[in-house]
Amino acid sequence: MLVLGLESSCDDCSAAVLEESADGPRVRSLVRKSQDELHGPFGGVVPELAAREHLLQVRTVVQSALDQAGVTLAELDRIAVTRGPGLVGSLLCTFSAAKALAWRSGKDWVGVHHLLGHLNAARIASPHLPFPALALLVSGGHTHLYLAKDWTHLELLQKTRDDAAGEAFDKAARLMGLGYPGGPLVDACARRASAPGPRFTAPKFRDGVASWSFSGLKTGVKLRVEADAILATGGAEAPEVQALCRSLQDTIAEWLLKPLPGHAEATGARSLILSGGVACNSALREQAKHLCDRLGLTLAVPEPRYCTDNGAMIAAAGALLPVERDWSLNADSDLRLTQG
Ligand code: KG4
Ligand code: ZN
Repeated sequence: MLVLGLESSCDDCSAAVLEESADGPRVRSLVRKSQDELHGPFGGVVPELAAREHLLQVRTVVQSALDQAGVTLAELDRIAVTRGPGLVGSLLCTFSAAKALAWRSGKDWVGVHHLLGHLNAARIASPHLPFPALALLVSGGHTHLYLAKDWTHLELLQKTRDDAAGEAFDKAARLMGLGYPGGPLVDACARRASAPGPRFTAPKFRDGVASWSFSGLKTGVKLRVEADAILATGGAEAPEVQALCRSLQDTIAEWLLKPLPGHAEATGARSLILSGGVACNSALREQAKHLCDRLGLTLAVPEPRYCTDNGAMIAAAGALLPVERDWSLNADSDLRLTQG
C-alpha cells in the first residue's frame, strides 16, 4: 500500500510517501520545509505567520515528496493527514489540501491524531515490537506517557501539569540567548560541557497524582542567569553556559524517565517507545537505553528525522487506520485521542 502523509500541525510543513507491506513501513521519500528562520526572531512560533507560510508551501512540498519517491498521485492508495491537535490555522491549511487532493483524485483519505503519528514513527525502524509498550511522547506541546496495547490503541498513564519538556528546553535556551528552537541548541551546547553540572531540584506534588511539571525549570534557569551575567551573554562558547545546558538536559532526561520502572512493573510492559522532538535529545536517548537494559525492555527510538514532526509518521499511522467517509470532517485543534 502506498500512502502519502502530510503534517503541518505547527511550524513545519512536511510530506512523505511510505510503502506499507507485511514487512512493515518503508519510507520512499520525506520532504520537510522548516520555518525556523521565519519564527527565530520572535523566539517562538507565530501562529498567523505559520499558517500563511503553509499555504505557500504545501503544493511544492507534496509535489517534491511524490517526485522524490518516483510516484504519481494516481498510484497512491491513500492520503493521510494530521487532523489535530495543533495550531488551528496550520492544521486547516494542510487538512483542506489533503481533502482536496483526495477529492480530485478519488483516493481514500484518513485524518490522523498527531500523537498517533509520533507513536508510529517508531514503527518505521521497529515494526515487530513486543507489546504492551510504554510510549513516552515528548515534544514542544506534549509530555505524555501512554500504555500502548498496539500501534493504534493508547491509554494515558501520566502527563505534564504545565509546560511540555520541549517548551522547557525552548524557554531556557531563550533565557541563555542561544536562539530558537532551543532543544537542539541546548543539546549541542551540553555535549561540549567538560563535566556534569548540579541537577535542579525536582518538584513535589501533594495530591499524589502521577505527573510531571517543567514550568519551575524556567524559573530555575532564570535565577541562575540573573545571578551570573555570563550565562545570558556568553553564548555556546562559554563553559558556564555549556555546564548549565548539561545540568538542564540531564535533569529533564532524569525526570522524564524516573516514573517508568514503576509503570513498567504495574503494566507488564515489554517495550519502551520514545518519540516526539525531545526524543532527539542525546542525554534522554542514552539514559533511556541504560534504563531499558536494566529493566529488560526493548527500546524503540526513531531516527531523529522521524522524531520531530514529519509526514512519514503520519503516513505510518494512517496506513493502519480506517479511512474516512465523512467529507464534512474538519481539522480539530483540540482533537482527543480516540482513534484506533
Ligand atoms: O515533535 P516536534 O517536532 O513538534 C511538536 O509536536 O511540538 O518537537 C519540537 C520540540 C521543540 O521544543 C524542540 O526544541 C524539541 O522538540 N527538540 C529537542 C531536540 N530536538 C528538538 N529537545 C531537546 N533536545 C533535542 N536534541
Ligand atoms: Zn509533534
